[in-house]
Amino acid sequence: MSEPASWLTSGSLLMAPMAGVSDAAYRIVARAHGAQLAYSEMVSVAGLHYGSDKTWELVAPHDAEPTLAVQLFGSEPAQFREAAAAVARRLGSRLALIDVNMACPVPKVTKNGAGSALLDDPTRASEILRACHAGLDDAGSCVPVTAKIRRGRRMGEEVAPEFSQALEAAGAEAIAVHGRFAKQLYHGEADWGCVRRVADAVSIPVIGSGDVYSHDDALRMMGETGCAAVMVARGTYGNPWVFSGEVPTLEQRLQTFADHVRLLEATGAHMARARSLAGWYFKGMPGAARLRGEAVRCNTAGEFLALVDKAHLSAEA
Ligand SMILES: Cc1cc2nc3c(=O)[nH]c(=O)nc-3n(C[C@H](O)[C@H](O)[C@H](O)COP(=O)(O)O)c2cc1C
Repeated sequence: MSEPASWLTSGSLLMAPMAGVSDAAYRIVARAHGAQLAYSEMVSVAGLHYGSDKTWELVAPHDAEPTLAVQLFGSEPAQFREAAAAVARRLGSRLALIDVNMACPVPKVTKNGAGSALLDDPTRASEILRACHAGLDDAGSCVPVTAKIRRGRRMGEEVAPEFSQALEAAGAEAIAVHGRFAKQLYHGEADWGCVRRVADAVSIPVIGSGDVYSHDDALRMMGETGCAAVMVARGTYGNPWVFSGEVPTLEQRLQTFADHVRLLEATGAHMARARSLAGWYFKGMPGAARLRGEAVRCNTAGEFLALVDKAHLSAEA
């Protein structure tokens, strides 16, 4: 059974790392609704090595974020050491933890031995964790180093429990488990039994991930698997209330979408991000299909906010 560590409040819900989604605005909204911690999207250690400003932007917490969990991906231990040190120096006390992505199924990532490809190479995965610790030591930081994994790479070949034991021995301070094989991408059901098997196999905290769409799902996952905390990804789409368990009114949904749009603008994000947000927040509202159709033509914060006014009018009609 996994026990919560001091940095992780037992029973908490966390905003999962999501490439192309979990930007600063998204994380601020999640935390305002009760997420105990929020992750950056996965960031390439090679990208940080070459110092691209665009890559560095992904790990820069906004002033409104108390802390940020930074997720790194790559395959070279030396690059992880350098990246962990550089991130720790830049973020200082705002860095909550360094998480290593060992879960991403995308071929562009796995063909270089990164993401879920590491599930086949526990020796390298362990070296990477030790390299992150060394990098943090170099920078005088002692934040936790964690990993995010899947059941295994190929259908039916579950490696997660044994693999997690190797990571624990290499100094992992928590393991997030998404109960799907890499081969499944995001299809089929997540197997919470795998989260349970990992929680039984290690003594560090386990964070469950997969198919958590409501606050009740999160509580059920913790009850059924013994995981210390739960990470929510797609269940946050248009629904930051998944963290608090509140049921929002239509007015709150529109207000939160408007706040989210303003945050995108304030954080300098590309406003096209608000198009998918509109689809999620408007879901099930009166006139939703028409509003979504109009959202794809919006380009500025002002246009999205005008659409919120229209949504109010259709709701009142
Ligand atoms: C659009 C999208 C982007 C994602 N990006 C990442 C990522 O950068 N790093 C990561 O570890 N997992 C990533 N994931 C996986 C999620 O964090 C999560 O483990 C998975 O979606 C299962 O949880 P869910 O059923 O709550 O969506 C991503 C998932 C989605 C849908």
